[in-house]
Order: sequence, then structure tokens, then C-alpha cells
Amino acid sequence: MPGIVIVGAQWGDEGKGKVVDLLAAQADAIVRFQGGNNAGHTIVRDGETWKFHLIPSGILYPGLNCIIGNGVVVDPSVLQTEIDGLRRNGVDVSGLKISANAHIIMPYHIALDHSGEAKLGKLEIGTTKRGIGPCYADKAARLGIRVQDMLDEKILKKKIMAALVPKQLMLRPFERDPEWAPKLDLQQMTEDLLAYGHRLEQHIADTGTIAWNSLQDGKLVVFEGAQAALLDIDHGTYPFVTSSNPTAGAACTGSGIGPRAIDEVWGIAKAYCTRVGAGPFPTELHDDTGTRMRDAGHEYGTTTGRPRRCGWFDAVGLRYAARINTMSALAITKLDVLTGFDSIKVATRYRSTDEIDGATFDTFPYHQTVLHHAIGEYEELPGWSEDITECRSWSDLPQTARDYLDYIADVSGVPVVLAGVGPGREQIVWNNSAAEHTAFSPAAAAD
Ligand code: GDP
Ligand code: IMO
Ligand code: MG
Repeated sequence: MPGIVIVGAQWGDEGKGKVVDLLAAQADAIVRFQGGNNAGHTIVRDGETWKFHLIPSGILYPGLNCIIGNGVVVDPSVLQTEIDGLRRNGVDVSGLKISANAHIIMPYHIALDHSGEAKLGKLEIGTTKRGIGPCYADKAARLGIRVQDMLDEKILKKKIMAALVPKQLMLRPFERDPEWAPKLDLQQMTEDLLAYGHRLEQHIADTGTIAWNSLQDGKLVVFEGAQAALLDIDHGTYPFVTSSNPTAGAACTGSGIGPRAIDEVWGIAKAYCTRVGAGPFPTELHDDTGTRMRDAGHEYGTTTGRPRRCGWFDAVGLRYAARINTMSALAITKLDVLTGFDSIKVATRYRSTDEIDGATFDTFPYHQTVLHHAIGEYEELPGWSEDITECRSWSDLPQTARDYLDYIADVSGVPVVLAGVGPGREQIVWNNSAAEHTAFSPAAAAD
């Protein structure tokens, strides 16, 4: 059994949590490798909805190693709330392991995220305001506080003090703010983190070694990405991106294993596109069709509740995501949301709206200005009207739905191994040819 990386192929919220939960049935470990509680991953099991922000989406399997890798940024209060919520619901969280090297999101990171967006005004990125960017900035500046620091009062205090000095200058506007002032007090921050450290200590571990041992034993390790390719800080629509690398390469650096331990990379994409926050979106729909997608797909952010922008499937973006991830398989989710559309469009290339230029692009433009002016050029495919939420095999799907999935595989150059036909765990159909593209066994999963 191999190392399988799960990555978002669009702008996030593609249904990564659902696919990870599915693969976790045969896994020995699940590793979250980047991002933080900007993520919201949903699992719907037996009619019950679970939303995870930091805890890996394999936690519903009792005792399964669920690792928060070194590449993740951890808000300890969010993590503790998630653990408490799971315990209250009778979930065994003994398998949860947290890398000692993961960085901690501090109250001043959250304050800086708020003030940074306020300063940008109309140019704001639309971040989740969870402190993600400022925390990764401190990591790079070597001013970060790490999970292991919560276990040593002297070191912790020293590190917070060093990190705090430049922040105090930047956070002058919050100096007397009753919401932030108490949270930015050195003594208070130290005490809070020591308390979290005490409670989380049982989960802190040498997580790279745990993943390595599973891989050495030939067992399946699933690397769970958050966010998505087009939000990647290097490869996404910068500066409208997150502050980490949600692409497959980061599965290595973010969990402490080498590239040769990865055998498969699965991209997760919706049957259409969504984006939450600001930034270019060439296939965005501002009309009734977009509203219909938002309503049918319940497209509201899992983390912030914001309405998601909706648009047609973007094959240009997908080909790009496939290349930078070396994607070996695709899972297309939310196919059911397109039921009832007379026809379905796929952008196969971009056209510049710049009147003078009017150029077309088959590949993802590397220049920001070009991308901001790009709109989709579409192929139109016939839709289907049958309810597909009860389909459980490829042959159950209407012919036009299968044609649509085949078309996506063709234009992206990546085989579609499964499609989602509803939010429930069981609402999937495996492609009959899936076994040619993955070592995961759909047959065993069905047992
Ligand atoms: P993630 O961040 O990639 O894990 O995705 P989110 O959980 O933020 O958003 C995906 C949403 O779509 C969740 O509400 C899921 O329950 C839901 N979902 C996942 N797959 C399907 C599907 O095939 N059909 C439908 N209708 N909903 C789905
Ligand atoms: P999952 O894992 C969708 C977006 C934000 C914003 C940009 C930067 O659930 O797919 P940040 O707070 O990261 O600095 O915000 O990235 N964003 C997401 N959009 N799904 C996510 O995670 C996201 N995480 C961040 O909306 O545009
Ligand atoms: Mg999400």
C-alpha cells in the first residue's frame, strides 16, 4: 500500500474531507501537512455532519493515527475545542498526534490578519482572518512559537517576548481595543499556552517517524491537503492566495517524509467551480445560473459562512493543477448539483477581455494582469435531468453524466476514478477502470 496525497484542484472546498474519510478506511495514518483552521473539511456519515478545521478527516476511525504535521499552523484553542467536541460525541481521539515542530497561531497573528485586511481596504484578499498569513510570516522570519515551546515556560516566555516587540509597533491601533488588548498581554499569552501545552502534551509526538514507520511497513498513508492548487502561495493567483503550499510537494516538507514515499496524487475537483474570497476567477457566473449553483450546492463557506462565488468547470485551471501536482487521479465531487441543467459548459481555454489584445490561452497565464482579464471560452455538453443521488455504480449514471466525466478526464489528461453524487459518505460512484489508476481497493471499501 502506498502514500496517497489528496489535494484540492481548484480554489478549495472541493470535498477533500469526504474523500480522505473514504480512503481512511484502509489507511494506517492520515497526515494534514499544511494550512491551519482556515480549512473546513466536512464529512457526512449516517446523516450526521462533522466539520473539521485542524483535526485530520480520519478521526472517525477509532485509534487511527491522525497526524497534524509540522507544516500545519495550529491555533491551540481551536484544536482544543475540536477535541472536546469530538470527545463529547463519544469519538475516540487517542490516535491524534501533533508534530512538536508545528507552529502556533498567536493572538497577535489574528490581530495582524484583521488589521492587514483593514489596511488593504478595497484591495483586501478576503482571508479567513484566522491569523494564517502572519503565523507563516513569523515562521519564515524565525520568530515563530512552536508546539514544543508550550512545554517549557522559560523558553516560551523568551520567544513570545522576542516575537512581540515588532508586533507591538504594528498593532498600535489595537493597543486599547477591549477585544484585543487583554489577549496581547505577555503574561496572559504565556499562561494560556502553558495550559494548552499541558492538555495537549499527550498528543505531541515525533510525527515524521510515525508516518515513516507506516510507509516502511507497506501500509497506506493518506496525506490530507487543505486549500487548493490555485490558492498556492507560489503557484496560485498571488496575492489572492493562502500563505502555504497546498500542492503535493508540500506533503513531503509538511510531514517529514521524502518524495519517493509518495505513489499517488489525487486531485479533488467539483463538477463546477467555486471560490471564496477575492481574486481572479475566469469562469465566474454573475447571473441566475451562478445563483442556481450556489443554492443547489449549498455554497457557503464551512469556516466563515461567506457565500461562495460560483462558475463553470475550468479545464485550463485543472490542467495547470494536474501538472504542478503530477496528479495521477481525479475525484469529481458534487456531480448531483448539476442535475437539471439543460446544458453544461466547460472552459477549455481563456480569452483576454483586453480589446486590443484579445489573445486566447490554452495554458494557465503566468502573468497576473492577463489572468485578471481572462474569461472562459466554452464547450457546451448536454445535461441530464434524472436524480443521481441514489446512483452507486458508474452504469447507474445517465449516459450524459458519464460523458461529462469522460470529457473532464479527456480535457485534463487525468483519469477520473470516482464521482460524488451527494454529501453522504456512501454517495459515490467508482469508475469501473479505477483499479488501473490506484492501489486503493474500491471493492474492499464497499465491504
Ligand atoms: P473540503 O474543504 O475540500 O473538505 O470541502 P468542504 O467540506 O469545505 O465543502 C464541500 C461541501 O460539499 C461539504 O458541505 C460536503 O458535505 C459537500 N459535498 C462533498 N461531496 C459532495 C457531493 O458529491 N455532492 C454534494 N451535493 N455535496 C458534496
Ligand atoms: P479548505 O481546506 C476555500 C481562502 C480565503 C482567502 C484566501 C486567503 O476548506 O478547502 P487565508 O485565511 O488562508 O489567509 O485566506 O484563501 N481560503 C480558502 N478558501 N477553502 C479553504 O480551505 C480556504 N482556506 C483559505 O477565503 O481567499
Ligand atoms: Mg472547506
